[in-house]
Amino acid sequence: MKKKILVIGAGSDVAQALSRLRAERGHILWLTARSQEALQPLLADLKVRYQAEALGFVYDAELHPAEDLMAQLPGIPDEVHVAMGYLGNPDRLDDPKDAARILKVNFSAAVLLMNAVMHAMIEKQIKGVLVGISSVAGERGRKSNFLYGAAKAGFSTYLDGLRNAGFSHGIHVMTVKPGFIRSKMTAGLPLPGPLTASPQQVASAIIKGMKKGRGTVYVLPVWSIIMLLIRNIPDVLFKRLNL
Ligand SMILES: NC(=O)c1ccc[n+]([C@@H]2O[C@H](COP(=O)([O-])OP(=O)(O)OC[C@H]3O[C@@H](n4cnc5c(N)ncnc54)[C@H](OP(=O)(O)O)[C@@H]3O)[C@@H](O)[C@H]2O)c1
Repeated sequence: MKKKILVIGAGSDVAQALSRLRAERGHILWLTARSQEALQPLLADLKVRYQAEALGFVYDAELHPAEDLMAQLPGIPDEVHVAMGYLGNPDRLDDPKDAARILKVNFSAAVLLMNAVMHAMIEKQIKGVLVGISSVAGERGRKSNFLYGAAKAGFSTYLDGLRNAGFSHGIHVMTVKPGFIRSKMTAGLPLPGPLTASPQQVASAIIKGMKKGRGTVYVLPVWSIIMLLIRNIPDVLFKRLNL
């Protein structure tokens, strides 16, 4: 069956890899990006490679309410992927605008959007799938990215609850915790090779996780062990670590 798939933050390297895999299967893609200029090459790529039915919508989490985006869509999607994210600058505690942006993009806007989609799916009795890309950064706050981590922690908790809420309606909610990804977000950062996934690996893990009806997916399984260890380091030691 041809699905209508909404991808939020379609310019993300992970979202591009995922959109290609979905378009290859003949599904309909509704992409969002922050400007028309950003949307055009993404849509053209899917049309040229796969003759995909793809539409674009301008959506900026800092500017546009979720309802405005929902009102523009030609219907209710069967599948939604929230791939937007903003890492921010951990050294700028004196920058409330950057902090607000981190919280909005990674948490509050993502939540309001998923609420709106879940509501619409329930109303139209669509047994859809919602996928949120969260992060292992949400499993324990670290000095290198605790605002981003806090926002992702909130997002992961929200997704846990949404999964619970969606279950009785036949709606599946999946949380993705990728670990490091080689993408625009981490360009220039020193990433440990064996712990770093490519956007294509993340996209494949998402498809596999959806097929299996998984609740939470660690893209590289080693991250579930790493985070188990990190969560269990006593606070008295943890606060002294340079993480
Ligand atoms: N990279 C990693 O190591 C890593 C690790 C764990 C989790 N993640 C998560 O994985 C997801 C995909 O990230 P990625 O690695 O593919 O990074 P990316 O290529 O930098 O993608 C981030 C996306 O978020 C969009 N975005 C930023 N601010 C936005 C706003 N105000 N409104 C709407 N969209 C906005 C960006 O749009 P523009 O293209 O217009 O900037 C971009 O499409 C994100 O949720 C990220 O937090 C990443």
